Amino acid sequence: MRMFSTVIVPIVTVVLAGATAAFAQQNLAKPSVDPARVDAVVTDAFPTAPVDLRPRLVPDETMSSCSANRNSPPKSIAEAIQKRERAAIHYPADGKFLGDWKNGEKLAQSGYGLRFTDYPPRQEIGGNCYACHQITDQEVSYGTLGPSLLGYGKLRDFKQAVAKAVYEKIYDSHAAFPCSTMPRFGASKILTVDQIKDIVALLMSPESPVNK
Ligand code: HEC
Repeated sequence: MRMFSTVIVPIVTVVLAGATAAFAQQNLAKPSVDPARVDAVVTDAFPTAPVDLRPRLVPDETMSSCSANRNSPPKSIAEAIQKRERAAIHYPADGKFLGDWKNGEKLAQSGYGLRFTDYPPRQEIGGNCYACHQITDQEVSYGTLGPSLLGYGKLRDFKQAVAKAVYEKIYDSHAAFPCSTMPRFGASKILTVDQIKDIVALLMSPESPVNK
């Protein structure tokens, strides 16, 4: 019995490994479904979408190439995405990246905006950062899809270059990381330049609870 199982287990393992490899290969193969048909199905799935929301169901060039490459584009496409998204970034006219961290915290907390019931908007649209990130340790309810941002500025010596990079990250997450799951808050017109500065202050200001 013992000998039987030492022989049979490796055989089963080899067969399973073969099947997994074949399955993975099949999964990576180009989709056989017409992308236009997929787009139509997605649009049809939102029959009650408010008119103002409908344009959001149409993927732009970056979203389309991320979808076509299952969010891991080859180098040349990744570089094209980064180039396009970098060019989409608008910078503060006064050259300053830090606004008011208190307002930044309010915006990071707020998940208002862009839902069916939020058209037309009746209050300021938020950044909903806590949905994916730990930010201050006072707030215990947060998502973990993104990395913790606790101590963000302090851990980076409050460097001006980092403040700029954080501004760029929030304005257009795909400029740094093509096909990121983080929204492009500035480029998609979710947040304004001033609102993004307020959130940068939340992460980068020495007075912010993030860095206390
Ligand atoms: C839907 C989830 C999601 C939301 C909402 C989101 N993020 Fe992110 N964020 C991510 C993920 C995932 C990463 C890691 C991948 C990447 O860098 O794009 C990330 C990365 C980051 C980074 C870089 C972290 C590092 O290691 O340097 C910063 C800064 C950041 N997010 C700030 C924010 C802020 C501020 C907001 C709100 C305005 C926000 N994020 C909203 C998912 C999200």
